[in-house]
Amino acid sequence: MKRERQEESGVDLNLRRFIKNLGYIAGGAALAATVPWLSACTPEKLQEIGRRRARVALIGTGSRGQYHIHNLKLIPHAQIVALCDTYAPNLEAAHALCPEARVCTDYRRLLEDKEIDGVIISTPLNMHAPITLDALAAGKHVFCEKAMALTLDECKAVYEAYQRTDRALYFCMQRMYDEKYIRGMQLIHSGLIGEVVGMRCHWFRNADWRRPVPSPELERTINWRLYREFSGGLMTELACHQLEVCNWAAKKMPQTIVGMGDIVYWRDGREVWDSVNVTYRYSDGRKIAYESLISNKYNGMEDQILGNLGTMDMTRGLYYLEEDRSQSGVRQLIGQVRDRVFASIPAAGPSWRPELRSEYMPHPVIEGAVHVNGGQNMIGVDEDGSDVILSAFCQSCITGEKAENVVEEAYCSTVLCLLGNRAMEERRFIEFPDEYKIPYMKF
Ligand SMILES: NC(=O)c1ccc[n+]([C@@H]2O[C@H](COP(=O)([O-])OP(=O)(O)OC[C@H]3O[C@@H](n4cnc5c(N)ncnc54)[C@H](O)[C@@H]3O)[C@@H](O)[C@H]2O)c1
Repeated sequence: MKRERQEESGVDLNLRRFIKNLGYIAGGAALAATVPWLSACTPEKLQEIGRRRARVALIGTGSRGQYHIHNLKLIPHAQIVALCDTYAPNLEAAHALCPEARVCTDYRRLLEDKEIDGVIISTPLNMHAPITLDALAAGKHVFCEKAMALTLDECKAVYEAYQRTDRALYFCMQRMYDEKYIRGMQLIHSGLIGEVVGMRCHWFRNADWRRPVPSPELERTINWRLYREFSGGLMTELACHQLEVCNWAAKKMPQTIVGMGDIVYWRDGREVWDSVNVTYRYSDGRKIAYESLISNKYNGMEDQILGNLGTMDMTRGLYYLEEDRSQSGVRQLIGQVRDRVFASIPAAGPSWRPELRSEYMPHPVIEGAVHVNGGQNMIGVDEDGSDVILSAFCQSCITGEKAENVVEEAYCSTVLCLLGNRAMEERRFIEFPDEYKIPYMKF
């Protein structure tokens, strides 16, 4: 989707195009089964809101907050009325982007403002739950960055508050609003890749995750991602999105978790691991193999759903079939020549030969170019669903309608991240604890 200025029409053309594209490629019922959260932002509802605008405020105006401002300015039914941050340079930078907004440094003051319909929280993770709970209590609609919270008990408290409130609550799990993920998921659920037999997700980068610090006493404030008081490390920062995709595909939750986390390269005083490997096992034996390492980027980032008939590479919006009749003659020939060559190598005994990855033919899940993140960027990329979910939230601020299952999905993936951290910390197998189960979960 190309972002456009759309003030003239007063309608969010990007959101409308997103919905139209999905409607075009799938029937309404199939769509509702795979993405029930989209029922809160149908074309009819978009029409209904007319020229009304959601009056929103940002709490946390650092890197991600400013990225949201960039997107909000392109959403006709959004109006940024206030900004809040405790760090003056970030507040000033955001204010320069929208000078008409009021500014403050204490989010509680902002929550007293009756002019504000909804708040967008982009603070470090440790403040997600406290601000979300206060904002819901103050009667605001809330859009909070992922992950849901820093601790399991906070997740539970947010989930319970959501059960009691009539306010809309979103967590920025943008893959849920990304056209290629939605289409890929529909194809998985329609049986294209057969039975889902496993999942492999990884996120590799080669960067220290550090930000420059103007003076030493600001180290923990600015580099909060590296310290456990504020951050769940690679699991809550990166894996959170990917584990949601796995549960979405499997339509259930893993029951057993085991893993190892270490600092293998960035030995610079940080407290969070720079290398994590976690295995999540579903009750039927299927597994998610999760890996993240930030000192080598060869493998990039991938969310792979493996079926007995094929593989869905969600990140690239491509699928591959195990037996692909659409392979070109040349490809088949190359495959045959290669296989004969390998078959004649006498290595390690008569029945062994190298099992290399086969040449698979990629098939796109959506038409047009797919925007893929090179793995370098910490604030997200255009066209990854972040703009669409934000637009859906602003729509909810006007209609008051909750988006089905968004909170539940965020709860499930965040809890899995935190249990992954616990398994690595305690170096043991963990069974999913009963006290954190919710009715939405199937095991
Ligand atoms: N969905 C995604 O793909 C995605 C991408 C990037 C970041 N994020 C999330 O966004 C959040 C922010 O990340 P970031 O990179 O922008 O961090 P950042 O450090 O750049 O910005 C955080 C801002 O919050 C401010 N802040 C801290 N405590 C506050 C408080 N009590 N009240 C008001 N402001 C406060 C800080 O001063 C800072 O300006 C994190 O939770 C991160 O995981 C999500």
